[in-house]
Amino acid sequence: MTTRLPSAPISVWRPIATDTFMVGVPHYPEHVDESYWARDAERMAAAGFNTVRMAEFAWHLMEPREGHFDFSLFDRAIELLGQHGLKTILCTPTATPPRWLTLHYPEVLRVDSNGRSMSHGSRQHADTASPVYRLHSQRITRAMAEHYCQNDQVSGWQTDNEFNTSTSVSYSEVARREFQKYLEDRYQSIEALNVAWGGNFWATGYDNFDQIVLPFEYAPVAVSPGHTQDHQRFLAFATARFQTDQVEILRAANPDWFIFHNLGQQEAVDFRGRFSDDLDFVGFDIYPMLQDEIGRIGGHAEHQALQLDLSRGHTGNFIVPEQQSGFGSQPNFCTMTPEPGEMRRMAWSSVSRGADGLLFFRWRPAHFGAEIYWMGLIDHDDVPRRRYKEAQQFAGEITRLADKLLGSSVRMDVGIAGSDYDNEHAHRSYPMGLPSPMDDATLLHRYCYKAGISCGFIHPEDDLSHLKVLYVPHWLMWLDEWTVPVEAFAQAGGTVIFSARTGSRDTSNHVIRTVAPGQSLSALAGVQVEEFGRLAGVQADGLFALAGRFARDSASPAVPAESARRRYKIKIGNREVVAGHMYELLRPAEGTEVLGYWSNRFAEGIAAVTSRAVGKGRALYVGTYLTEEILSPLFDGLLARAGVQPLITDLPAGVEVSMRKKTDCCLLFILNTTETPVELRTVPAGHELLSNVAVKEGQLALESYGCAVIELSGEPT
Ligand code: GAL
Repeated sequence: MTTRLPSAPISVWRPIATDTFMVGVPHYPEHVDESYWARDAERMAAAGFNTVRMAEFAWHLMEPREGHFDFSLFDRAIELLGQHGLKTILCTPTATPPRWLTLHYPEVLRVDSNGRSMSHGSRQHADTASPVYRLHSQRITRAMAEHYCQNDQVSGWQTDNEFNTSTSVSYSEVARREFQKYLEDRYQSIEALNVAWGGNFWATGYDNFDQIVLPFEYAPVAVSPGHTQDHQRFLAFATARFQTDQVEILRAANPDWFIFHNLGQQEAVDFRGRFSDDLDFVGFDIYPMLQDEIGRIGGHAEHQALQLDLSRGHTGNFIVPEQQSGFGSQPNFCTMTPEPGEMRRMAWSSVSRGADGLLFFRWRPAHFGAEIYWMGLIDHDDVPRRRYKEAQQFAGEITRLADKLLGSSVRMDVGIAGSDYDNEHAHRSYPMGLPSPMDDATLLHRYCYKAGISCGFIHPEDDLSHLKVLYVPHWLMWLDEWTVPVEAFAQAGGTVIFSARTGSRDTSNHVIRTVAPGQSLSALAGVQVEEFGRLAGVQADGLFALAGRFARDSASPAVPAESARRRYKIKIGNREVVAGHMYELLRPAEGTEVLGYWSNRFAEGIAAVTSRAVGKGRALYVGTYLTEEILSPLFDGLLARAGVQPLITDLPAGVEVSMRKKTDCCLLFILNTTETPVELRTVPAGHELLSNVAVKEGQLALESYGCAVIELSGEPT
């Protein structure tokens, strides 16, 4: 991307406005002797790279003493790389303030909930809500912007590095004051806040904003959900404000620069708010093998797909500023290693689900510091081996395909409502050990992923017209204004499905005073919720599993508790399954069809799944949460009736499929995520672009971790 192009409003269908697929590496020239630099640049150019990203942790080098700037190291590195055809993305280095800063301004440090100040020596220890830290962030950003604004080799900027990946909170005095100011702005009067937070419950009312406390997790028991919800809103506001400070400075210095942020396992980022509006696009760091390490269900390929689809659901196509290339570790963990061919497959997976640029983390591993075994493309001994060759292969391929790819959106037949900050936190503010909307969504995503159905995440305010099905996973805070576009979607032939508890709270986290799912959704879905209650998870013993005072003792014997014997069953068509987590007893309005009943105990015969005809489409309500067991009885018939077909039928296990399309081009990605070669028998005819061969309808062989990108002459329905 040589010149910044104007970007469209945030939408899942938005491609990045670029004419270049950025491919390359995050690079740390400060980690090696300068004698390595020329060879590095030559090797990067020989790999077919066009971009490096630099300086996100180098504030101490660029401002060794307060107010004394020295950019010479990066000037030399940028120039040398430029001579080899590589553009540089610079980063604001605010994830790691220099020691002089934390020493002279200790008030910038985050404080944990026990009052312990964080220490120098790691990263993200400075609080982005701190006014003093904001001033320093503005100073270094301005100094860098002014120094580089005329430098043609600098193409754009990354703000900070993975905001809030380590933590988003601070319990300092400074943070408390900032929280109070935020609340005063939001509510204007303390009376309004007391109503919103429910001040008459447990004497939690305040006389003025100065009295307001931060929500400690246990104080000693839980605080009000209104309080925690607003704290999360404040954290997202403070994060976005910190970034806005930097963005304004960078834009003023050079309006041609593109600006993005790289997100990881982020907290406190409201993607549909100012945070993304300020940026040209968003970047998501993809470390699939880290997912294996944190014990999520499904393998890392499935999780990578989920993470990519979620990322795209926030703001549309994205870049991957860091993609795992090899073994990864910090002192307290290490990850599995991508096998030969797998790194390239992971890169193609990212592209297939919306990446319009990709950098392999990192050029070479550091020999010192807290990530000495986080491998790059080059090994510790400065030798390029298989990872370099795979990156080179990918760079060649992607550069060849860039014209066909850029400007395209990822097809999505099934959309899951996602990217709503308030709804994410409405659940977290009062979780009760129940699955989150994300847990629920993950099950449907998984069902679609395995079946080869194109599926992703979308906000109800987005353009729904390209979907066949919209699933809303128990969004507690449903806004009436969303009912309008969703109804229009159904009128036009779409199928919308609301799951249990949707619409049952208002934006202050108060339970609504009418019957769930609230007036507008009751009217749309033709249903009312008469009663709700807890069910044990299908495999669980009925006790909730939260950390803290009521935590379940994991050593307790696996004797089924009474609640576990109280299995409630649902019958959908002629299939009966045990339901889990939540039951709702539904009262259908006249004309509403009942698709599923509760089929035992006191609920026997009461509606559990309903459907109302709406124009050419319909609105369904599911009075329970998803479980593995209910997926097939619920969705097999439902998706077929909504016209959803897999992109490829009879997809072999471990093969993933996705489609990107634009007016004049339709690309089908078929990727073997396993170490075993596979044969597919049902692929559509087209031209396979990686090997440049025609594919006849039917057969396709993929080697271990093999990738195919088939250009189709027409788009299958
Ligand atoms: C990312 C981070 C990088 C590096 C990498 C490997 O989350 O942005 O700086 O730490 O993980 O741990």
